[in-house]
Amino acid sequence: MSAHRTDLSAVARRWAADLDSWPVPLRFDADQRWYARLAGDVDHEVWALSWLPGQGTDLHDHGGCSGAFVVVSGVLTEETVAGTRLRPHRLPAGAGRRFGSRHVHQVTNRGPDPAVSVHVYRPALRRMTRYLLADGRLRVAEVAEAGVAW
Ligand SMILES: [Fe+2]
Repeated sequence: MSAHRTDLSAVARRWAADLDSWPVPLRFDADQRWYARLAGDVDHEVWALSWLPGQGTDLHDHGGCSGAFVVVSGVLTEETVAGTRLRPHRLPAGAGRRFGSRHVHQVTNRGPDPAVSVHVYRPALRRMTRYLLADGRLRVAEVAEAGVAW
Protein backbone atom coordinates (compact mmCIF):
# COMPACT_ATOMS: atom_id res chain seq x y z
CA MET A 1 0.00 0.00 0.00
CA SER A 2 1.45 3.37 -0.95
CA ALA A 3 1.90 5.93 1.80
CA HIS A 4 0.25 8.85 0.02
CA ARG A 5 -3.17 7.22 -0.08
CA THR A 6 -5.79 8.56 2.27
CA ASP A 7 -6.07 6.65 5.53
CA LEU A 8 -9.67 5.39 5.39
CA SER A 9 -9.83 4.84 9.12
CA ALA A 10 -8.85 8.48 9.71
CA VAL A 11 -11.53 9.59 7.25
CA ALA A 12 -14.15 7.54 9.11
CA ARG A 13 -13.06 9.01 12.44
CA ARG A 14 -13.21 12.54 11.11
CA TRP A 15 -16.84 12.11 9.99
CA ALA A 16 -17.70 10.23 13.18
CA ALA A 17 -16.42 13.12 15.29
CA ASP A 18 -18.48 15.79 13.55
CA LEU A 19 -22.11 14.84 13.03
CA ASP A 20 -22.97 18.51 12.49
CA SER A 21 -21.00 18.42 9.23
CA TRP A 22 -23.12 15.62 7.77
CA PRO A 23 -25.01 16.72 4.65
CA VAL A 24 -27.90 14.48 5.72
CA PRO A 25 -29.22 14.55 9.29
CA LEU A 26 -28.88 11.34 11.25
CA ARG A 27 -32.04 9.41 11.76
CA PHE A 28 -33.26 5.98 12.76
CA ASP A 29 -35.75 3.94 10.80
CA ALA A 30 -37.79 1.26 12.54
CA ASP A 31 -38.56 -0.48 9.23
CA GLN A 32 -35.03 -0.94 7.97
CA ARG A 33 -31.47 -0.04 8.75
CA TRP A 34 -31.02 3.62 7.79
CA TYR A 35 -28.07 4.74 5.65
CA ALA A 36 -26.94 7.85 3.79
CA ARG A 37 -24.01 8.74 1.59
CA LEU A 38 -22.02 11.51 3.24
CA ALA A 39 -19.28 12.13 0.70
CA GLY A 40 -17.40 10.57 -2.15
CA ASP A 41 -14.85 11.10 -4.85
CA VAL A 42 -12.90 8.91 -7.25
CA ASP A 43 -10.80 7.52 -4.40
CA HIS A 44 -13.33 6.63 -1.72
CA GLU A 45 -16.88 6.98 -0.50
CA VAL A 46 -18.27 7.69 2.98
CA TRP A 47 -21.56 6.35 4.33
CA ALA A 48 -23.41 6.81 7.61
CA LEU A 49 -25.50 3.98 8.99
CA SER A 50 -27.84 3.78 11.96
CA TRP A 51 -28.96 0.62 13.66
CA LEU A 52 -31.84 0.12 16.05
CA PRO A 53 -31.56 -2.87 18.37
CA GLY A 54 -31.84 -6.03 16.30
CA GLN A 55 -31.08 -4.38 12.96
CA GLY A 56 -28.15 -5.77 10.99
CA THR A 57 -26.77 -6.93 7.68
CA ASP A 58 -26.53 -10.32 6.08
CA LEU A 59 -23.14 -11.89 5.59
CA HIS A 60 -21.54 -9.94 2.72
CA ASP A 61 -18.40 -8.79 0.98
CA HIS A 62 -17.78 -5.34 -0.55
CA GLY A 63 -17.35 -6.17 -4.22
CA GLY A 64 -13.57 -5.90 -4.08
CA CYS A 65 -13.49 -2.62 -2.13
CA SER A 66 -11.37 -2.28 0.94
CA GLY A 67 -12.46 0.03 3.71
CA ALA A 68 -12.82 1.01 7.31
CA PHE A 69 -15.61 1.76 9.71
CA VAL A 70 -15.96 3.28 13.15
CA VAL A 71 -18.75 3.04 15.71
CA VAL A 72 -20.03 6.49 16.65
CA SER A 73 -22.46 5.42 19.38
CA GLY A 74 -23.98 2.26 20.74
CA VAL A 75 -22.36 -1.15 20.34
CA LEU A 76 -22.12 -3.17 17.12
CA THR A 77 -21.18 -6.80 16.75
CA GLU A 78 -19.15 -7.73 13.70
CA GLU A 79 -19.05 -11.42 12.83
CA THR A 80 -16.38 -12.85 10.56
CA VAL A 81 -15.95 -16.35 9.21
CA ALA A 82 -13.59 -18.44 11.29
CA GLY A 83 -13.30 -21.89 9.82
CA THR A 84 -16.81 -23.24 9.68
CA ARG A 85 -18.32 -20.77 12.12
CA LEU A 86 -18.94 -17.08 12.64
CA ARG A 87 -16.78 -15.38 15.24
CA PRO A 88 -18.22 -12.28 16.96
CA HIS A 89 -16.22 -9.12 17.66
CA ARG A 90 -17.80 -6.57 19.97
CA LEU A 91 -17.28 -3.01 18.79
CA PRO A 92 -18.28 -0.35 21.33
CA ALA A 93 -18.49 3.37 20.52
CA GLY A 94 -15.08 4.60 19.42
CA ALA A 95 -13.97 1.21 18.11
CA GLY A 96 -12.96 0.97 14.51
CA ARG A 97 -11.97 -1.64 12.04
CA ARG A 98 -10.07 -1.66 8.74
CA PHE A 99 -10.81 -4.34 6.20
CA GLY A 100 -9.27 -5.63 3.01
CA SER A 101 -10.80 -6.22 -0.39
CA ARG A 102 -11.77 -9.81 0.38
CA HIS A 103 -13.29 -9.21 3.80
CA VAL A 104 -16.59 -10.98 4.49
CA HIS A 105 -18.63 -10.02 7.54
CA GLN A 106 -22.02 -9.34 8.98
CA VAL A 107 -22.75 -6.52 11.37
CA THR A 108 -25.61 -6.39 13.86
CA ASN A 109 -26.77 -4.21 16.72
CA ARG A 110 -27.24 -6.76 19.48
CA GLY A 111 -27.24 -4.16 22.21
CA PRO A 112 -30.18 -2.48 23.95
CA ASP A 113 -29.39 0.99 22.54
CA PRO A 114 -29.47 2.48 19.03
CA ALA A 115 -26.09 2.49 17.28
CA VAL A 116 -24.51 4.74 14.66
CA SER A 117 -21.47 4.03 12.48
CA VAL A 118 -19.48 5.60 9.65
CA HIS A 119 -18.13 3.43 6.80
CA VAL A 120 -15.57 4.31 4.15
CA TYR A 121 -15.02 2.26 0.99
CA ARG A 122 -12.26 2.39 -1.61
CA PRO A 123 -13.08 2.62 -4.43
CA ALA A 124 -16.75 3.60 -4.26
CA LEU A 125 -18.99 0.63 -3.58
CA ARG A 126 -20.55 -0.74 -6.76
CA ARG A 127 -21.53 -4.25 -6.05
CA MET A 128 -21.49 -6.72 -3.23
CA THR A 129 -22.24 -10.36 -2.69
CA ARG A 130 -24.37 -11.81 0.06
CA TYR A 131 -23.44 -15.17 1.49
CA LEU A 132 -24.94 -17.86 3.61
CA LEU A 133 -22.84 -19.98 5.90
CA ALA A 134 -24.38 -23.40 5.44
CA ASP A 135 -22.89 -26.65 6.67
CA GLY A 136 -19.71 -24.78 7.48
CA ARG A 137 -19.24 -23.44 3.94
CA LEU A 138 -19.76 -20.02 2.44
CA ARG A 139 -22.37 -20.08 -0.31
CA VAL A 140 -23.31 -17.18 -2.54
CA ALA A 141 -26.87 -16.09 -1.85
CA GLU A 142 -27.10 -13.02 -4.07
CA VAL A 143 -25.00 -10.50 -5.98
CA ALA A 144 -26.47 -7.02 -5.53
CA GLU A 145 -25.73 -3.69 -7.14
CA ALA A 146 -24.75 -1.00 -4.67
CA GLY A 147 -26.81 2.01 -3.81
CA VAL A 148 -27.09 0.46 -0.41
CA ALA A 149 -24.37 0.80 2.21
CA TRP A 150 -22.90 -2.36 3.58
FE1 LIG B 1 -19.75 -4.48 5.25
